[in-house]
Amino acid sequence: MKETVLSGIRSTGHLHLGNYFGALRNFIKMQYEHRCLFFVADLHSLTTHPKPADFHGNVHRVLTEYLAAGLDPEHATLFVQSDIPEITELYVLLNMITYKGELERTTSFKDKVRKQEDNVNAGLLTYPVLMAADILIHRPAKVPVGKDQEQHLEITRTLARRFNRLYEADVFPEPAAFNFGAELVKIPGLDGSGKMGKSEGNGIFLSDDEKTIHKKVMHAVTDSGPTAPNGEMPDTIRNIFTLLEVVSTPDVVTHFREAYNNCTIRYGELKKQLAEDICKITLPIRTRIEEIGADRDYLRKVTQQGAAQARESAQATMKEVRKAVGIQAF
Ligand code: TRP
Repeated sequence: MKETVLSGIRSTGHLHLGNYFGALRNFIKMQYEHRCLFFVADLHSLTTHPKPADFHGNVHRVLTEYLAAGLDPEHATLFVQSDIPEITELYVLLNMITYKGELERTTSFKDKVRKQEDNVNAGLLTYPVLMAADILIHRPAKVPVGKDQEQHLEITRTLARRFNRLYEADVFPEPAAFNFGAELVKIPGLDGSGKMGKSEGNGIFLSDDEKTIHKKVMHAVTDSGPTAPNGEMPDTIRNIFTLLEVVSTPDVVTHFREAYNNCTIRYGELKKQLAEDICKITLPIRTRIEEIGADRDYLRKVTQQGAAQARESAQATMKEVRKAVGIQAF
């Protein structure tokens, strides 16, 4: 029996190399091994009040980029959260069994209060409840989550248990975290700050063109070069080598390692090679982003098919949920 794995995708930001070699690569693999459901979490983004045109544009971009990178609608169910009204229905019902205090204590909420203190809306407070509804509606065995989402998954488990207990029903199994474990390569950023993120100058996006990639890589932080043979690499240089190991061939990596160890390395050459090898990987994806992005018929077909599949599973859950709660027709 295949396990159901579900993951939500934030609808803000562009896919960068860190995503591509991190979670996304695992999603692509998983879709052939499990019953996978992936969705664009567009309703969640309303907590920051995007302009309506941007709201749709974000869904379009995220969906396009994930399809271009390799999510396969023939194998995974790919849908948009706002296409599934059952999610919002479950969200309402779960809100009734979630306590203000437990939501106020979540780290993500406290962060948001600090970051957008003039827009502390109720959606922000109940963000984890909407996420719990996203998850529980499909009763997945596993949810791949990063560190920053673990607390939300914990709340999801609490709500699943609480629902079952309060309504004396056995509707929701507790979803477990999907652990990529050692398979997850941490991709460093270009500014020496550690992880690749979306901040300016730190990330390389799959949608970047060749010129932008070269410019970003050439600007990566380095130092004045090794001063003694076989010396310890500072973090900034080690980061560049980590990227090289991911995108280049082993002989290229060996060549530059030796050059570093015998102090003949030229960072300009290293970066040029790195930029070229990144382009080799990302440019075909970029071409697909342009093709898929322009093909509204295809995007409509994918999202309609995904919504139909997701709604079937959501409706089956809601039937049990409504019965458990006591919602019934005359
Ligand atoms: N909160 C997640 C994030 O910011 C996105 C998300 C929304 C999600 N609903 C989900 C992830 C359900 C997993 C399952 O990345």
